[in-house]
Amino acid sequence: MTKIRKAVLPVAGLGTRVLPATKAIPKEMMPVVDRPALQYVVDEAREAGIEHFVFVTGRNKGAIEDYFDRAYELESSLRDRNKLDILEKLTSELPKAGSTSFVRQQSPLGLGHAIWCARDVIGDEPFAILLPDVLVKAKKSCLAQMVDAYEDVGGNIIAVDEVPMDRVSSYGVIAPKKAGDDSKLIEMSGMVEKPARDKAPSNLKITGRYILQPEVMQLLSDQAAGAGGEIQLTDAMARLMEVQSFHALKYEGQDYDCGSKYGYFEAFTAYALDHPEIADEARALIQRLAKNE
Ligand code: G1P
Repeated sequence: MTKIRKAVLPVAGLGTRVLPATKAIPKEMMPVVDRPALQYVVDEAREAGIEHFVFVTGRNKGAIEDYFDRAYELESSLRDRNKLDILEKLTSELPKAGSTSFVRQQSPLGLGHAIWCARDVIGDEPFAILLPDVLVKAKKSCLAQMVDAYEDVGGNIIAVDEVPMDRVSSYGVIAPKKAGDDSKLIEMSGMVEKPARDKAPSNLKITGRYILQPEVMQLLSDQAAGAGGEIQLTDAMARLMEVQSFHALKYEGQDYDCGSKYGYFEAFTAYALDHPEIADEARALIQRLAKNE
């Protein structure tokens, strides 16, 4: 079985739901405690064995490239000031030389189009996709759980999670082969992007983590626009499912949608409550604020 070595991270989105915070910085660079949201996603992928990161960027996303590069001036002034622990942290988290690629999506035609822009870098091997708006806090990284499942069953794997029925229309939603299947790894018979509540095949939403076979790129090349007038990854996957196996993994962990105001607040709070330097104070603050209600 071919190892999953490459991951695509589409980072071209404008972040309109959290403007003006994202007017001058990419939304993926918004800090969650002391690290950009994107760093958490890269760490999740690394834990799953990903060796090469393909960022699909757009205009005004230069900060992302700089972030994953050396910062010589900063590093030398940290060295001069003997702040060696910070320096070590800064440099140890950098991707290895040659392990990042940046591909430009020139027009915002949809998630499916963004992924297709990475086709030449992906080539002929199965690959992962991580949507960096979504942070998944988990003991074992969500993508690593998916790689385990992939090693068992192969094919295509997508992470899913239950969502209240009144929110299904904001997501891609899967149809399990067996109604009411409560296993962790579910065989699928269909999927649909942003269905109306009464048309949704289940309450299992697509979380934003995928392991896909390279044939999806061919399907994306002629994929017609779907929900919202955009080229949807979900539509191309639905076509791929006619010829390849697809499983949905109910992973263990909690997802946060950092592209929305409340989701970002939730993520910040959850990671603060788990951060060795500030967890106790953060917990005390939340208890104090709750009492004043
Ligand atoms: C995208 C996908 C959707 C998925 C969602 C997860 O939608 O198209 O299938 O459920 O991410 O966050 P978007 O949030 O870009 O509209």
